[in-house]
Amino acid sequence: MDLALAAAERDLGVGRAMAAPGWVRDRVLTILEAQAARLGITAMRAAERLQRDRSAVEEIVAALRVGETRFYRDPVMWEAIASAVIPTLPQRPVAGLSAGCSTGEEAYTLAMMLAIAGKRFSVLGVDRSSEAVQAAREATYSAEAARHLPPAYVRRFCEVDGSVMRVRKELRSLVSFEVCDLVSAVPRGGFQIILFKNVLLYLATPAGEAVARRLLGELDARGVLITAASEVPRLCSVGIATARISSGVTAFRLGPRTGSEPPPPPPAAPAASGSGFPGGMEGGR
Ligand SMILES: C[S@@+](CC[C@H](N)C(=O)[O-])C[C@H]1O[C@@H](n2cnc3c(N)ncnc32)[C@H](O)[C@@H]1O
Repeated sequence: MDLALAAAERDLGVGRAMAAPGWVRDRVLTILEAQAARLGITAMRAAERLQRDRSAVEEIVAALRVGETRFYRDPVMWEAIASAVIPTLPQRPVAGLSAGCSTGEEAYTLAMMLAIAGKRFSVLGVDRSSEAVQAAREATYSAEAARHLPPAYVRRFCEVDGSVMRVRKELRSLVSFEVCDLVSAVPRGGFQIILFKNVLLYLATPAGEAVARRLLGELDARGVLITAASEVPRLCSVGIATARISSGVTAFRLGPRTGSEPPPPPPAAPAASGSGFPGGMEGGR
């Protein structure tokens, strides 16, 4: 198990090695047992094979990257964005970013909310998984997905046809998606809202904190970065400035560093060049 976690972290920058959360360890063990059963060997032997079989490591990493998401996930956060963030935004067009967007539900929810508020806007979603980005661009979901959204959003922004739901073209045209490994580079931009939710748990320490700092550097002066509530303590613990936007919802802003923090590490790989991002890409700094 520890061999598998260490290999995943060393090769691909995911997991948290010996400090991996329980769900990571459970999922790794499940895959190791499946690999062992396929090969007719013990789980211990399957773990030892990881040192010389990259495809076995990649199978584990893919399982760790399963991008669970849904429309309007964490309603309390969305209500806080609607009532306490969007009304404070300047009149100019709003730029939103869903960093670690998976199959796009979060980016489209943000777009729906901005449209309902009468804003001019664009939303960018980025994810490391090209399959997820492709699905996000398709914007076709099970009709079941609609039950998470307020009915007014479904009526205005979605076409439901039997068991399939698709985000309408007018909204799709305002939301774009790119493949991007945030550990290597982050989209550049003057964003007013960055959603960086349920991604930190995929990133080793300190790579995750470094990604958060780089994203903060792409906020405009009054912008906010929002993580899942469970991820707030991890960023607070390295001194990133918080802004309580409503009861129960804490956001992060660009703020002064505290003296004791280590500088962010260099990026894991050279920044991508020639990306399709309007503002380009920003690697580690
Ligand atoms: C659990 S999903 C979260 C989706 C959405 N943000 C939400 O909260 O519903 C996590 C996503 O982060 C992506 N991810 C993990 N590591 C990443 C990295 N280094 N760069 C970009 N995306 C990453 C995964 O591919 C996955 O789609």
